[in-house]
Amino acid sequence: MTDHYAVFGNPIAHSKSPLIHASFARQTGQDMDYTALLAPLDGFAECVTAFRAGGGAGANVTVPFKEQAYAIAARRTPRAEAAGAVNTLHFRGAEVLGDNTDGAGLIADLTRNLGVDLAGRRILLMGAGGAARGVVLPLLACGPAVLFIANRTAGRAVDLAARFRDDGPVRGGGYEALTDMTYDIVINATAASLAGELPALPDGIFAAGALAYDMMYGRDTPFLQLARQAGARTADGLGMLVEQAAEAFFLWRGVRPDTAPVIAMLRAG
Ligand code: ATR
Repeated sequence: MTDHYAVFGNPIAHSKSPLIHASFARQTGQDMDYTALLAPLDGFAECVTAFRAGGGAGANVTVPFKEQAYAIAARRTPRAEAAGAVNTLHFRGAEVLGDNTDGAGLIADLTRNLGVDLAGRRILLMGAGGAARGVVLPLLACGPAVLFIANRTAGRAVDLAARFRDDGPVRGGGYEALTDMTYDIVINATAASLAGELPALPDGIFAAGALAYDMMYGRDTPFLQLARQAGARTADGLGMLVEQAAEAFFLWRGVRPDTAPVIAMLRAG
């Protein structure tokens, strides 16, 4: 019996998730299919219900439905609770389990694919929206010396940091507060790259040998250009995309796919 999976979003036409999961399924010999489904902006929950009723075994959820997916999950993993958002649903009998694999995807890409050790490092996270919130706890779990959350609206960064103050050395503020330290890893979790814009990073933010990471992929962003000019190493979010998918695949199938050939295939276009 073929098991059915899908990704829900709006828009969804350009999602790479069906290609990624088809590659994982082929590689691991899993009998499953995976399609992209456009949910109307006011009809996400109904779409999920219909998909389950039709025999769906699980789903990924992307923009703008991750908070709604959180709400419809009867049970949630601790990392989904911390993220306040769900990107992976697992239908187990009558139960809907909500998970969030975005943070694990970022950590896997940074540590396994890019070879970065996060322990004892100074990390700057730009942005305080949903994308940033999903990665705070996983980053703190890696034991950085400091995690500073910087945001255009400083208060949102202060609030986000306060939420995780018991979990590690995290602080928050505006970009103007970034004057006294350089950072080893600078992660762009803002929506600025989408608009071709650059957060107001002050000069001299990158430590020697720093890594600049943009969660956006498929485009050379103003942030990555700035980082390169400053001598930093750069990476886009394609590896995170594949790694979060692998983590979802593992939750559903209990098998860990090899991500390297899939990342290489996507890079080759
Ligand atoms: P997401 O779920 O993608 O994080 P979001 O919750 O709307 O989306 O958050 C968008 C983030 O990008 C916010 O941190 C936002 O900053 P504000 O909180 O000040 O709005 C940030 N952002 C968007 N455009 C930006 C820009 N041009 N420069 C800097 N930050 C920007």
